[in-house]
Amino acid sequence: MTRFTVNDRPVQYRMDPDTPLLWALRDASNLTGTKYGCGTGDCGACTVDIDGEAVRACQVSLAQTEGRFVTTIEALSPDRGHPVQQAFAAENVSQCGYCIPGMVMAASVLLRRNNDPGDEEIDAAITNICRCGIYPRLRGAIKRAGRIMRGEEQVAAAPPPGITPEEAARTVPALRKP
Ligand code: FES
Ligand code: FES
Repeated sequence: MTRFTVNDRPVQYRMDPDTPLLWALRDASNLTGTKYGCGTGDCGACTVDIDGEAVRACQVSLAQTEGRFVTTIEALSPDRGHPVQQAFAAENVSQCGYCIPGMVMAASVLLRRNNDPGDEEIDAAITNICRCGIYPRLRGAIKRAGRIMRGEEQVAAAPPPGITPEEAARTVPALRKP
């Protein structure tokens, strides 16, 4: 049995320790915001934050996650109010949206370390693949999120989601507050 923390909740998965973290999050915890794209570590759709690093959840096993702190897109903010989420909405970054949770997680890790990245730093940190080709708007949104984090700009809050966090928690136990 592997034990670690997901979105501030202690969890124990009764799964093979070699299971990729991605499948525990999606299948056992129903945290389906973390996406499956390639399963080979190339696309970044499955990116989560583990101990402050952007990690591809398809490439790390439950055993390798033992004792660590995992944050998924569902817990980045309670209300989609994280500067990266605000900037992505304001810049209309999303097209089909499939890559967006992984992009947002990778960008949030980058901006925590450096809230004023240039194009080269963004390109080096965000190696996620987008089949819709959002890359130019992605760079703009990450820079805008940096300005929000530095207090140089404010944007209107993103529109409310179609489901409240409380409603979501009723059907997805993993989203309930500890
Ligand atoms: S699904 Fe993990 S990198 Fe593509
Ligand atoms: S917005 Fe469609 S894959 Fe990136």
